[in-house]
Amino acid sequence: MEEFNTQLFDLSPTGDLVVKEGYYQYNIIDIVKKFGTPTEVFFPYILESRLRDVIDLFNAFIKILGYKGKFYYHYVMKVNQNREYVLAAIAEGAHIEVSSANELFIVKKMLEKDKFNPRIRVTCNGPKTEQYIRLIEELRSKGLIVVPVIENQEEFERLKKFKGDVGVRVDLDVKIKAHFDKKFNHFGFAEDELRKIGKIRNLSILHYHISTQTETIEGFVKPLRRAIKLYADLKKHNPGLDTINFGGGLGVPFEKNRKFYTTKNLVNQIIKNAKKECDKLEVKHPNLVSEWGSYVTAPSQITVFKVLAEKQVNGKNNLKWYFVDGSFIAHLTDTWSVLRHKWHLIPANHLNARKLQKVWLAGSTCDADDRYTAGGSYMMMPKIEEGDDLYIVAFDTGAYQGSLSNNHCLLSNPALVVCQNGEARLAQRRETPEDVAKQFGW
Ligand SMILES: Cc1ncc(COP(=O)(O)O)c(C=O)c1O
Repeated sequence: MEEFNTQLFDLSPTGDLVVKEGYYQYNIIDIVKKFGTPTEVFFPYILESRLRDVIDLFNAFIKILGYKGKFYYHYVMKVNQNREYVLAAIAEGAHIEVSSANELFIVKKMLEKDKFNPRIRVTCNGPKTEQYIRLIEELRSKGLIVVPVIENQEEFERLKKFKGDVGVRVDLDVKIKAHFDKKFNHFGFAEDELRKIGKIRNLSILHYHISTQTETIEGFVKPLRRAIKLYADLKKHNPGLDTINFGGGLGVPFEKNRKFYTTKNLVNQIIKNAKKECDKLEVKHPNLVSEWGSYVTAPSQITVFKVLAEKQVNGKNNLKWYFVDGSFIAHLTDTWSVLRHKWHLIPANHLNARKLQKVWLAGSTCDADDRYTAGGSYMMMPKIEEGDDLYIVAFDTGAYQGSLSNNHCLLSNPALVVCQNGEARLAQRRETPEDVAKQFGW
């Protein structure tokens, strides 16, 4: 099933997990035997093909439906700031979205190395500190197209004299089915506030981001129709306004039984509805920008742990704890924090084992919450035979887990291995005790 990338996964004759790249293949057990665990394994070609699919789908439906605006994809840096990810996305035609001065600093580093085609656009979300604004101004003066997205009255005042294009973020008055269906949102201006402001110097982008893991197509279409009404009103005072950025939110089926809409159908509905609404309001079709971060990055990485020990779950005869050498709090932080989602976890070896065991997984920090029980259910994993190693792999870990990770109990952050063109290379070594101690002043 393509939504799960299952066409890329296979098992070796000895039951090891194998990931395919055309006619190359990577045996995950060979990789972890070489680089140790816990290890994150990144497949840039998965990121690239998902990103390319999004761009191609938008361009195709724009053509088929006679939509007059253009489509731009912006790589959302907060989703994964690792160099390999950012460069892979840019190589595939992504523009960039940053949400802090430090993320913009990475853009500055790339610019200094002459890495960009000067037509790349960088949009800047997030609270604008003075340091952030100065960096925006500096990069603009160096010829980069940097567009600050104004989120409140203070930023509006501070950026009144900004010479380049600006965007404005709206907190749309809509309710949809999604992970963050919060009643009160602290991002952006209320719709009426923007109508009241009217003229915003050099306004080119109307931006909103409703939520991550949006559950239905209606969850995209409803806010878009509302945003187009606002766009039509704002355009009367701001003729340079020509773009709607609808943020992130395309869902990833982290769980095996979860099913989302297809991306093709979604893009079709987005373009169809944008056209219909604009034509009804007799307003020029805006360019459309997506910042679909998780969808593009999450499935391009897996995280592999080794089982260190096993133990009976007290009071449950047929259930065992398998202790892994990583952590659900430190390394797969969304298990427990922001998204609290489930993962698709399987053994990375002994995949053809006949003797299976019901298990819960325990992480390596001291925390009672550092465990994975598949939402109170259990997982079937191979029984561990005397003298055998068992490795466990979590799929779809490429979004957010890196920057959300932490050193609880001073665990080291995992190594990052990149697989491309038939070769597996170490991109970042696992943190050493010295690395970790240094962060705490030792
Ligand atoms: C402004 C903005 N754009 C895009 C995204 C990416 O969202 P997702 O990963 O759900 O696509 C986020 C996530 O928080 C965001 O805040």
